[in-house]
Amino acid sequence: MTSHKIAVIAGDGIGPEVIAEGMKVLDAAADAYNFKVKWKKYPLGADHYLTTGELVSEETLKDLRKNDVIYLGALGDPRCKPGILEKGVLLALRFHFDQYVNLRPVKLLEGVWCPLKDKGPKDIDFTVVRENTEDFYVGIGNRVKEGKSRQELEVIRSLYSVKFGLDIEVDKSEIAYQIGVLSRKGSERVIRYAFELAKRKGKNKVTAVDKANVLSDVYNFWREIVEKVAKDYPKINYEFNYVDAITMWFVKNPEWFQVVVTPNMFGDIITDLGAMIQGGLGLAPGGNINPDGISMFEPIHGSAPKYKGMNRANPIATIWAGAMMLEEVREEKASAAVLEAIGDVLKEGKVKTKDLGGENTCSEMGDAIAEKIAQERGR
Ligand code: IPM
Ligand code: MN
Repeated sequence: MTSHKIAVIAGDGIGPEVIAEGMKVLDAAADAYNFKVKWKKYPLGADHYLTTGELVSEETLKDLRKNDVIYLGALGDPRCKPGILEKGVLLALRFHFDQYVNLRPVKLLEGVWCPLKDKGPKDIDFTVVRENTEDFYVGIGNRVKEGKSRQELEVIRSLYSVKFGLDIEVDKSEIAYQIGVLSRKGSERVIRYAFELAKRKGKNKVTAVDKANVLSDVYNFWREIVEKVAKDYPKINYEFNYVDAITMWFVKNPEWFQVVVTPNMFGDIITDLGAMIQGGLGLAPGGNINPDGISMFEPIHGSAPKYKGMNRANPIATIWAGAMMLEEVREEKASAAVLEAIGDVLKEGKVKTKDLGGENTCSEMGDAIAEKIAQERGR
């Protein structure tokens, strides 16, 4: 019997509750489809950080490598300053394992209320491929005060004047800057992934997102690479959308989209909008994928600290992320069965968590989906 080693990072807030339901459903899928899952829990997150001062140690990273994939709940806790856990654990893992694709399906399922008038499941069904290791996420930036780092301030000042050909006065007291970086390799691999995905799924269009009209150095480079990669896929059309415009089209004409490929930061923003048009953050899954390495799957929502321990969060985003994870470990049938079970439970509408307008708990939703899998398999 095949056995998959899955690392579990339940994390903070509602993370442990939603992950428990994800594990429950994947165990049911393993039973029904004859494979084994060996779970290994890693206690990363706020508690671990506050008691040990450690975010992720080298040793933990090494140990995580022994698994096939990683299943993550959520990170973030009001006891820690914003960014500590998010950057120190989540982004650290994405970067360490070079998970350069952030795959985020935007699909409205039957039976789910959609905030867009006159749009239904047939209109909202596309995938966002978000670049996941570069752009404004590279972490190059600083705050510089006059007198503190004279040299750095002078460098920024001179870059400024070279760029504009005039001696613009940069604020003498203090400045802050953050640099976005794209590499040819980093862009090409994710853009190629998007075109390959379109090809594999029988889609005929890729929409590439940017802001080339203003941030022209990075995003004209991005466009050039899109054009180059597209040459290898003559049957797939492509188009460019500015990021501001695409937010408008997601709302007005979501049916236009099939595969959307986007630089990191714009991808972060537009996928929250994507989550809303598919029924809310409780239903939006994501995968951080390294096609040749260790990938990590998670709901795209955060840790929702105010709902911690209340057994009321919707676990579907996490369960759906689990289905994506099963696809990654080549359990395609089980993956499809999990998706089908989610779809059927939502369509029937007998079990609904608070965000869906019902009264059921997080664990009741997990139970319903797990039972559905067993039933549909006739066990
Ligand atoms: C997401 C989150 C993260 C991101 C944060 C928590 C670092 O917003 O997964 O979309 O910006 O990528
Ligand atoms: Mn986000």
